[in-house]
Amino acid sequence: TIEQREYLINGEMKTWAGSLNPVLSPVFIKENGSYKQKIIGSTPLLTSTEALEALDAAVKAYDLGQGLWPTMSVTERIEHVEKFLAAMREQRTAVVKLLMWEIGKTLKDSEKEFDRTCDYIVDTIKAYKDLDRNSAKLIEEQGFMAQIRRVPLGVSLCMGPYNYPLNETFTTLIPALIMGNTVVFKPAKFGVLLIRPLIEAFRDNFPPGVINIIYGRGRETVGALMETGKIDVFAFIGTNKGANDLKRLHPKPHRLKSILGLDAKNPAIVLHDADIDNAVSECITGSLSFNGQRCTALKILFVHRSILDSFLEKFNAAIKKLKPGMPWDNGASLTPLPEPGKVEYLRELVEDAKKHGATVINENGGESMNSFFYPAVVYPVNSKMRLYSEEQFGPVVPIVPFDDDDEAIDYVINSNYGQQVSIFGTDSRNIAKFIDAFVNQLGRININAQSQRGPDTFPFNGRKDSAEGTLSIADALRVFSMRTLVATKNT
Ligand code: G3H
Repeated sequence: TIEQREYLINGEMKTWAGSLNPVLSPVFIKENGSYKQKIIGSTPLLTSTEALEALDAAVKAYDLGQGLWPTMSVTERIEHVEKFLAAMREQRTAVVKLLMWEIGKTLKDSEKEFDRTCDYIVDTIKAYKDLDRNSAKLIEEQGFMAQIRRVPLGVSLCMGPYNYPLNETFTTLIPALIMGNTVVFKPAKFGVLLIRPLIEAFRDNFPPGVINIIYGRGRETVGALMETGKIDVFAFIGTNKGANDLKRLHPKPHRLKSILGLDAKNPAIVLHDADIDNAVSECITGSLSFNGQRCTALKILFVHRSILDSFLEKFNAAIKKLKPGMPWDNGASLTPLPEPGKVEYLRELVEDAKKHGATVINENGGESMNSFFYPAVVYPVNSKMRLYSEEQFGPVVPIVPFDDDDEAIDYVINSNYGQQVSIFGTDSRNIAKFIDAFVNQLGRININAQSQRGPDTFPFNGRKDSAEGTLSIADALRVFSMRTLVATKNT
């Protein structure tokens, strides 16, 4: 158990004497014949006072004249980030262990998340060097000698989600820092203890106030920051509701730049001529890796009626091969769910679908115990059911049979979300029809492949209620900066 009282403000590790927030693991342990949820630690329940202190430190560190970070040379800033990365790598074992205990991510995926985050930092440094080279150019235009400088935006508030509490958070935090912004960072609600082993690495490798780490309830802490109007960039990956509740507290919305990764309901469309084995294998990982708890997961499968029987038979057989277990069990991929109340919520969605005529068609589908929920394949799903439009973010797979391609096209066009789609088929002319229909509707169109974020150098974004702004290595550097023109008139 980790009783964490430390937080970071102005380069100083502070110790909190007030109340703590318990951290529950999704793992239940059998004691005296009954299962008990394991408490694995606690984090400081800071108040608005400490949050505002953190903001004050970030504002001062940004202030030109006093602060060094925003005006530092590229080489110097990169040195800080590289040293941080070296110190971070030393914490791999501790962070991976906490990823498993806190959010139930398998050992393999936890290691992948850690390593992917380190790679992301390395690639961001590389992209930064290129970006800087470009912005150093002198331009001669209509009697002016001009230079466009890429400069930071100010204070960034960075918040990430529980499903990728390290990787997703760092995809905003690192570019924000590299571009010279200063940061207030509040770790995710679950997946929170795993930041603790990295606090010293932040403290020791960045100047005071450049990165400040706070804990506590959202409304009380980050809500208070937003109300000051001093947050310049709001980098948030999570739900629409969470983002909007905070955004609307900012008194001057025109002065706030938001970079948001939000809800999604990515459909797969399996056409009559699809390679069924490939479609099944991609839809299995697409809908069930990390138990469907990925914003990029496939959350509804449209399957052409002519291949439905074969697809479903293979899909259900593939689920049977997935091994339930604890995150550290060899080969386990179905693991406990970290969100409190999630199992009940998923049951509710399945019950609602059943009430409207669907059934769970796979063996043991929807069986649950404590925080564990066995994947449920629900068929046939239609627009009367919540599963048709609601983002389940868990191991429930709604199947919609279709006869006419337009039924699937209409779903995407009428959806509130616009992140990704996966189309499975072999007739390239027919697939081109889907691409044309979707290219102005979504952030990414996958052909014969599951929806996903990677490779991380690809742009990652969405439309409608799914995102604001684009994240990727190079795009994120642009998002956290602007171009200031220095124009000298030739005399
Ligand atoms: O939850 C959203 C993540 O960005 C998904 O990333 O597609 O690599 O799992 P992923």
